[in-house]
This record gives sequence, C-alpha cells and structure tokens, in this order.
Amino acid sequence: MTNKIIHKERGSIYATNNLSAYLKKVLDDLKPSSIFILTDTNTLAFCLPKFLSENDYLDQPEILVIEAGEAHKHIDTCVALWDDLSNRGADRKSLLINLGGGVVTDIGGFVAATFKRGIEFVHVPTSLLAMVDASVGGKNGVDLGVLKNQIGVIREPLAVFIDPGYLNTLPKEQITSGYAEMLKHGLIHSEEYWTKVQGFNPNQREETAQLIWDSVLIKNTIVLKDPLEKNERKTLNYGHTLGHAIESYCLDASERPDLLHGEAIAIGMILATFISSELEGFPSEKLSEVSRIILKHFPKTAFTKKDIESILELLVYDKKNSHGKVCFVLLTSIGKHKMRCDVPNEVIYKAFDYYKNF
Ligand code: GLY
Repeated sequence: MTNKIIHKERGSIYATNNLSAYLKKVLDDLKPSSIFILTDTNTLAFCLPKFLSENDYLDQPEILVIEAGEAHKHIDTCVALWDDLSNRGADRKSLLINLGGGVVTDIGGFVAATFKRGIEFVHVPTSLLAMVDASVGGKNGVDLGVLKNQIGVIREPLAVFIDPGYLNTLPKEQITSGYAEMLKHGLIHSEEYWTKVQGFNPNQREETAQLIWDSVLIKNTIVLKDPLEKNERKTLNYGHTLGHAIESYCLDASERPDLLHGEAIAIGMILATFISSELEGFPSEKLSEVSRIILKHFPKTAFTKKDIESILELLVYDKKNSHGKVCFVLLTSIGKHKMRCDVPNEVIYKAFDYYKNF
C-alpha cells in the first residue's frame, strides 16, 4: 500500500505501510498519561494480538472489552466503560484507542467524548464498514432501545489508522455488510465510482486498499463541507431512512433474524432508488442495474404487509426528520441527490413490491 494520508487539524486519516510509526508520532506528540484500548470479544481475540505486536512500544496498555454486536451498542455498555475507566485511574490526559468495527468506534468515541467532559481518542477500524464509514467524520453514539444512533455526539477522533490487513479476520458477511456503504458512495458520488466499486474483490489486496481509500476520500470530502450534517452530509444517509427502520424492526422482532447494518442498508438503497425513479425521474434502466448489482451480493429478505406497516411506523424516529415530516435522500441520477420530505406511503409500499418481485 502506498502512503495514503489525509491531514486535518483533528481526524487525520492514515492508510500507510508504516501505520505504527504514525501512531507512535501521534502518541509522542500527545504524551497521554495512560493508554486504554477498547476491544469487543471478537477484536480482543482476532485483532488485538496483531495490533500489540505491531505497536510493541506501547507500555502495558489497559484493555477494555465489550460484548460484540449491535445489541450491545447501548448506554448500559457506556456506563460500564465509564466505570471501568474511572476505576482503573483514567484521567483527562488518558487516551482511548478504539480497536474494532463500527460498534466499537461508535461507542468508544462517545465514551471518550463524554468521560470527564472529553478525553482524546483514536480509531483503528477493523471492519470494512468501520474503515469506509463509521471511523470517518466523527459520529459517535449509541442506540436507544432498537432505535439506531439516537444518542451521540459529533466529535472527530484525534486520528484514524486504516489497515486493510484486519479484513482477513472478518467473516464474509461482515465484508459484504461494509461493501454496502461503498456501493452507497458510488450512488451518491458519481457514475465513475459506481462503476469502479463494482469491481470490488476482497481477495485482491491492492485494489481493495485503493477502493477503501476512494470511499474514505468521498466521505471525507462530504464531511469537510458539512461536518454537522446541516445539508450535504445527509446524502451519506442514502438508503438509511428505510434501511435503519428495517434494521431496527429486525432487531426488535424476536421471530426474525437480525440483519447486519449493511444488509439492511442494501435493501434501503433498492427501495430509495425505486422511490427516486417514481418521484425524481431516476432512469428506469439504472434502477434495474442498481437492483441487480445489490442483489448479486445481498440475499433477498421477505416482508409481509404487517412487517412493512411496522417498518413505516419506525420512520418517525429518523434523525433527518424535521417539523414532523419524514425526509428521504433521493437521486435524480447517479451522483445527483435531492431531499424529499413528502414521500407518500403508497410509493413506499410500491417500492417494497418492486423489491419483492425484482
Ligand atoms: N454514516 C453517515 C455519516 O457519517 O454521516
């Protein structure tokens, strides 16, 4: 991997061959009083040994562990971590290194941003989703019940260190889940990246590293223009209005298997693209292409009318809503978006029909 670096006052992003040297430089400049590494039960076993051996200058860091999985992205987990930090003597000059996927980076960022009114933290994303999305842009937080990311803050980490080598530790479905966000970057950014990202093959290491970096650049450019999500950053929620509602519904419905975030967003993107074609003239041949490409990677999920009714009820909690209206990011074509807060329920039902019958 060549040297890929985005320098920023906060939140510089490194994806280089010698990440360890860059992390050491950040630590030498910061001089933290103590170092804590947050892992989950998976990254503790599969990623921490690699991280510690590559960064062997770290002097006996404290290890924090949470249960793996979205079901643990809750305030209770944060309370346990705040207690742990406090009991193990963390002070305002302590540093938290978040080593994990999106749940770890979201929770770790939130815990650090609030502990003693804020300690420094860095992200070392170990899942594809965290590399291309969760670790970039400073969104940190937890779910409220099954409602996604309702509590949180926007605070950039001090730095992000991306090593695609961690992808070797992931099961296939986790890679596919992260790939959904890369497909999203294609849809919201350009025909060129949409075409390029279709060549994603995690077995090709160099090409994968380049695509991860392309996605990071797309996301970072949007975040820099609109860090607090007043306008353009909303486009990063393409497919997320219905996708988050579907994810929450599946988390809540005991008879249904949970969906990974990217699996739910993949469905949400097909639905949003159908709605775009109905309301915004998104070309119908492109709608078929988008549906075909997404369904090549993500198995279809069945929804009954009752499921869809419950999913629609969850839309009121979407964070893009305002003045009592549910707002969608739609596309007029690939790379060109438009916000709509007046999507009729009949069109959403039609979108689910389209998804079912495609
Ligand atoms: N994941 C969407 C954003 O960071 O804005």
